Amino acid sequence: MPIGEGNDVTGFAVKARKAGFLPSWSLPMLLPMMLAVYLLADNIGPAGAQAASNSGRYEGVATCAGSTCHGRAEGNGEVVRQDEIASWQEPSSSTGAHSRAYAALASPRGKKIAGNLGLGPATSAPACLGCHATYVSPANQGPRFLTSDGVGCETCHGPASGWIASHYAAPATHASNVASGLVPLERPQVSAKICLDCHFGSSETGQFVSHSMMAAGHPRVAFELDLFTALQQHYDVDADYVARKGAPNSVRMWAVGQAEAVRRSTDLFAQEKFGTVGVFPEYYFYDCHSCHRAIQDGPQANRTFETNPGRPIPFGLAPYNDENIIMLSAVSRALVPGRAAAFDAASKDFHRAMGQGRAQAAAAAQKLRGEAAALSGALAQRSYGGDDAFTVVSTIADTVTAPRFTDYAGSAQAVMAVDTLLNAMVREGRITVGAAAGIRANINRAYAAVSTPENYRPAQFRSSLGQAANAIGALR
Ligand code: HEC
Ligand code: HEC
Ligand code: HEC
Ligand code: HEC
Repeated sequence: MPIGEGNDVTGFAVKARKAGFLPSWSLPMLLPMMLAVYLLADNIGPAGAQAASNSGRYEGVATCAGSTCHGRAEGNGEVVRQDEIASWQEPSSSTGAHSRAYAALASPRGKKIAGNLGLGPATSAPACLGCHATYVSPANQGPRFLTSDGVGCETCHGPASGWIASHYAAPATHASNVASGLVPLERPQVSAKICLDCHFGSSETGQFVSHSMMAAGHPRVAFELDLFTALQQHYDVDADYVARKGAPNSVRMWAVGQAEAVRRSTDLFAQEKFGTVGVFPEYYFYDCHSCHRAIQDGPQANRTFETNPGRPIPFGLAPYNDENIIMLSAVSRALVPGRAAAFDAASKDFHRAMGQGRAQAAAAAQKLRGEAAALSGALAQRSYGGDDAFTVVSTIADTVTAPRFTDYAGSAQAVMAVDTLLNAMVREGRITVGAAAGIRANINRAYAAVSTPENYRPAQFRSSLGQAANAIGALR
């Protein structure tokens, strides 16, 4: 059964292709692009603190757009590029997706979804505006604020009333700006939380894509922090950036992104309001493919699902979507081994509780959330370098992790991980661009094995992932 519009690994690729950004669908094509947008960096920035509190007035994109501010036609790069508005509005690439978010609600597809759900016009439905615009109460809107701006600068950078007049010139520093309400997005935990509000869901108004919305036509929501950050990058990581904010590190971004995704998913699932719909669990949290596949019940029928050592659930129940849980399990064994056993035990208990009852499942979700939060802190804090990326890749494909790839979502997340980590190795100078290109065919085979949910075959996937990981390992 087709799910949503796009049967690709992630919806973004569908759009990127539609927009002419990628000639034909292929995540591997992002490799050269990502190499071009990043500068070498392997040092450590400050991490771990929380976003500044989000009180303040939202002044609107127009207030950022002055021609001596962020509205230049071309970047100058002396301090910041100053052409951020142009990237944010770029009609034909992912960097412009956030400025298009509001318009998507008025598109035929947006209208159809809202119509199916009986919401009235999507452009005024809180259930949609929470993610497709900067959705704040009128009392917090400045005179130039426009909902139709979509996901504007302040959605991520924070309401600007406290710092707009002072943030760009001495004596302001990054620290003083943060103290006035600028969000320290260079910290992976902070930025992951903000992205996940819309790219997974949150308990704020209008920030949850339920299974009903998906059944009504909403695309699936796929996310990986490091990859999506690169896809919307509108700044240069140059020497002055590093001096002000520290150097970003892809392995850390990826790892913290996985931990925060597990934390968010279990946090929402544990809440009655999100975890259940009438007598049913909210299907959004479960593996889509486990329900959406053909039935084989003739005399010759073969089971189309595999048992999975990582999730002890009663036979025949829909498994919780554990794509990020599997990745976090691998990353904790590789990088935070002291916490790995506790995390794995909590994740097994969580799956087991699915066969026990709602109360047990919610309690187990909270326990797992606690383990994920601890891992997030540890992964944000630790320093990175050396063979970290190699170790993580080999752990993702090793004999402990591989048997857990029995479903589509986890497998697709694994390929994105391997690709992201390979890019990190190139950027950090651990391997050459030529060496990475030399094993591209292996990575492409792994992508091909998850190109559509319909054609997904677990055994075939595991073997191509193993080959890709071996090829990367050989470059160590
Ligand atoms: C307020 C909600 C919101 C927040 C916060 C948000 N996004 Fe988005 N993002 C969206 C929506 C909605 C879309 C899809 C817009 C469309 O295609 O119409 C999108 C699209 C994207 C795309 C383009 C994907 C594609 O299909 O090409 C990227 C990349 C992206 N977001 C990255 C991020 C990152 C990284 C963060 C955090 C730093 C983030 N987003 C925070 C709502 C949000
Ligand atoms: C939790 C946040 C969230 C909510 C709530 C949400 N969306 Fe989305 N929507 C997204 C994201 C993220 C994408 C991009 C998905 C991707 O391609 O990865 C998207 C994509 C879309 C698209 C496809 C856009 C395109 O360019 O093809 C449409 C249409 C859409 N949403 C309409 C709606 C409508 C209508 C509602 C309300 C019923 C709604 N959305 C609620 C986050 C959300
Ligand atoms: C989807 C979230 C998101 C949106 C929307 C967004 N940004 Fe950003 N922006 C980021 C992230 C993440 C970074 C990188 C981390 C950092 O340096 O804070 C960044 C970095 C920047 C930087 C570089 C700062 C430096 O220190 O060099 C500038 C300037 C900037 N953004 C301006 C803007 C402007 C202007 C807009 C609106 C047109 C905008 N951003 C919209 C997420 C976003
Ligand atoms: C526990 C089982 C279950 C899970 C898990 C599940 N669905 Fe569904 N889905 C259903 C049912 C039941 C329907 C309604 C089908 C009907 O009415 O015939 C449905 C309908 C749909 C439809 C409309 C299909 C159509 O033919 O009209 C879409 C699209 C969809 N689901 C997407 C998803 C996505 C995306 C996920 C994962 C995030 C998912 N589903 C997870 C059971 C599930």
